[in-house]
Amino acid sequence: MRSLLFVPGDSEKKLERGFASGADVVIVDLEDSVAQQNKAHARAVAADFIAARRDATGAAIYVRVNDLATGMTDDDLRAIIPVSPHGIMLPKSNSGADVQHLSAKLRVHEAENGLPDGAIRIIPIVTETAAGVLSTGTYAGASARLAGLTWGAEDLSAAIGARAARDDAGRYTDVFRLARTMTILGAAAADTAAIDTVFVNFRDLDGLRAECIEAERDGFTAKMAIHPDQVAVINEAFTPSTDAAAHAAAVVAAFEAAGNPGVVGIDGKMYDRPHLRLAQRLLERAKAAGLNP
Ligand code: COA
Ligand code: MG
Repeated sequence: MRSLLFVPGDSEKKLERGFASGADVVIVDLEDSVAQQNKAHARAVAADFIAARRDATGAAIYVRVNDLATGMTDDDLRAIIPVSPHGIMLPKSNSGADVQHLSAKLRVHEAENGLPDGAIRIIPIVTETAAGVLSTGTYAGASARLAGLTWGAEDLSAAIGARAARDDAGRYTDVFRLARTMTILGAAAADTAAIDTVFVNFRDLDGLRAECIEAERDGFTAKMAIHPDQVAVINEAFTPSTDAAAHAAAVVAAFEAAGNPGVVGIDGKMYDRPHLRLAQRLLERAKAAGLNP
């Protein structure tokens, strides 16, 4: 999973384009991109579209439901679980307890629809409330359904009353950098993927590329998108280069050849266990992206 493209759930035209976008995951949105008076319509459009077209796309299908405090989550799940999405994105998650709560709901819907117990995965957005930012360490062990953690800046701005999330130079300000960092740490603590948030200037592909490169450097393995044009840039940035994959394969092979010791030397440089773990993680991502190092 490298790219996750948001598609408003009430637009058949965009669903069509999203399913053909080349994104690894399509997030069919029932939340912020759908107006309140359109929620019921969006549920019906989204469910019909997924049922009709799920086999025509290579993308995994997630549905972003309305958050647990809205009173709309159950209606969303009732409409969408019968068409068996791969996962649910949970916005405004306050802690691992919210993921457990959603997981319990999913278990009932899975049983009612004859789906295997635990089939549907969960990706929470963990920084949209102040409590959420402070609780990213609570996702470890919350649910075997967890498929990643991601973060968002817009709702956090509203929650804390910040007028902007970025400074004049375009850098996230401290609160948002903290939220981003807490996402990386929370994901690592929960042994799941860290997924970077959206880049909203969808015509600025150079800016997107720069943000992807920083994200990948810092430990994110995927990024969300809001426009189909962003998908190719994200996929490229989060696919390990053939050189990096070959190097990782060489590190793993050197440890194996030496009988799996604590430390080896390769081309005059020391490699110890953390280097081995990094190499293994990069190889997993390379293989998931279809490389064969
Ligand atoms: N998924 C699928 N198709 C999309 C899309 C998306 N996220 N964003 C744009 N498109 C389509 C447009 O419908 C348009 O199709 P057309 O050529 O058949 O008319 C084409 O791609 C080009 O779109 P463009 O004109 O460049 O942008 P726009 O002004 O139509 O749309 C947005 C801009 C921001 C409204 C649109 O990108 C969007 O809806 N993004 C998703 C928003 C969202 O889900 N937000 C919630 C998460 S933060
Ligand atoms: Mg939002």
